[in-house]
Amino acid sequence: MSGINYSEKIPNNVNLSEDRTLQRALEHWQPNYLQWWNDMGPDGSQNFDVYLRTAVSVDPQGWAQFGHVKMPDYRWGIFLNPGEQDRKIHFGDHIGEAAWQDVPGEHRANLRRIIVTQGDTEPASVEQQRHLGLTAPSQYDLRNLFQVNVEEGRHLWAMVYLLHKYFGKDGREEAEGLLERNSGNADNPRILQAFNEKTPDWLSFFMFTYFTDRDGKFQLCALAESAFDPLARTTKFMLTEEAHHMFVGESGVSRTIQRTVDVMNQLKTDDVAKLRAAGVIDLPTIQRYINFHFSVTIDLFGADQSSNAATFYSSGLKGRYEEGKRTDDHVLKGNSYKILSVEDGKLIEKEVPMLNALNEVLRDDYITDSKGGIDRWNRVIEKAGIPFKLTAPHKAFHRNIGSLSGAKISPDGRVVSEAEWNAKVGEWLPTNEDRAYVASLMGRVVEPGKFANWIAPPVMGINRQPVDFDYVRFN
Ligand SMILES: [Fe+2]
Ligand SMILES: [Fe+2]
Repeated sequence: MSGINYSEKIPNNVNLSEDRTLQRALEHWQPNYLQWWNDMGPDGSQNFDVYLRTAVSVDPQGWAQFGHVKMPDYRWGIFLNPGEQDRKIHFGDHIGEAAWQDVPGEHRANLRRIIVTQGDTEPASVEQQRHLGLTAPSQYDLRNLFQVNVEEGRHLWAMVYLLHKYFGKDGREEAEGLLERNSGNADNPRILQAFNEKTPDWLSFFMFTYFTDRDGKFQLCALAESAFDPLARTTKFMLTEEAHHMFVGESGVSRTIQRTVDVMNQLKTDDVAKLRAAGVIDLPTIQRYINFHFSVTIDLFGADQSSNAATFYSSGLKGRYEEGKRTDDHVLKGNSYKILSVEDGKLIEKEVPMLNALNEVLRDDYITDSKGGIDRWNRVIEKAGIPFKLTAPHKAFHRNIGSLSGAKISPDGRVVSEAEWNAKVGEWLPTNEDRAYVASLMGRVVEPGKFANWIAPPVMGINRQPVDFDYVRFN
């Protein structure tokens, strides 16, 4: 079951050749996908040989094989984790019943919407990142960008497989739509706003892969609990790839900080102007990037009270993060949860039915997880003996969805006046000047083992290769 058949046009471990109609439909979609990759994928990279990992089985040990490949020849395919015998639904109103191997009619519309929304983010991030290859700070980083890109492409394949196999004509139309919408396109944008924003520089890329790919992790974890078994199995395998994306983000920010604190110590200064003159990214700017990416990403979890969230849970479509490890009744009727809102100029907590607050539950789990990396970044600063601490902004800061939408809250969680917000926003969120400065540092470094001045080399190479390995052959 877990072995992947690479002799077929579409590599897969789902016995695709036994379902000729489905195979034909996907083989019809495949050239459109490749056309999309050529048009909207990594800019100017078609002929590069890139040291990529390709899944060869879905076993936890050794599923990846490394080698130089041209990205348009990457073996995108369909890989599901093995099924669990007699798997039971373990939350919601159907708890204890057999997991679904097909889509129940009454949940078809909601499941399709969940799959399309998840699927839409995958090619969107490739589009958002398509120009970054032109300014990569090293071959090592360029390779990591491309690895993330090809795997997001495969995540799109995963969702398209579900649409084609289980949703008939509607599913095939949705699969076409996933290639037609484009990030930032005024007429036909991606579904979620954060995926229409630009990823203009490498600090943004690292923040995106740390914070926003982690949103992906939490959404996938919630879907890995689903009563719809094929969705649970495909998202479980996607999660193994997602871990690398977050590593790219965490280590990228960490190396940026490392280089900054090294220069701070060499020059014995924390003066922003002097550090910028020395070509590194000052810590207050890094804090503002964190504030931006953290706040934009937590909006992705949706409104703090949502009847859709309640429906998705009760009907078994989408669980909580680590649903199986929780010790409550997994039905949640009568339970409550605290959410925030602003009343009479104050931030207050109020208790609401937990089922309606499940977006908030997932957001809070995400926040706990994402703070871990910020602690690890602080250790780099501490080790260098520099008295500066990065923090996650308050959950209510700079929100655009739910009851906190548009409220003026400082990063430390105070309700502030419009005047204070306007006076301080330049200290809290990246300014045009910050972004222009970071952009000015971006320039492609292509020699193996060389790194741009603003970032430290990694501690180790990829797949035990040396740091100065030729990760990308430009041809
Ligand atoms: Fe993904
Ligand atoms: Fe990802």
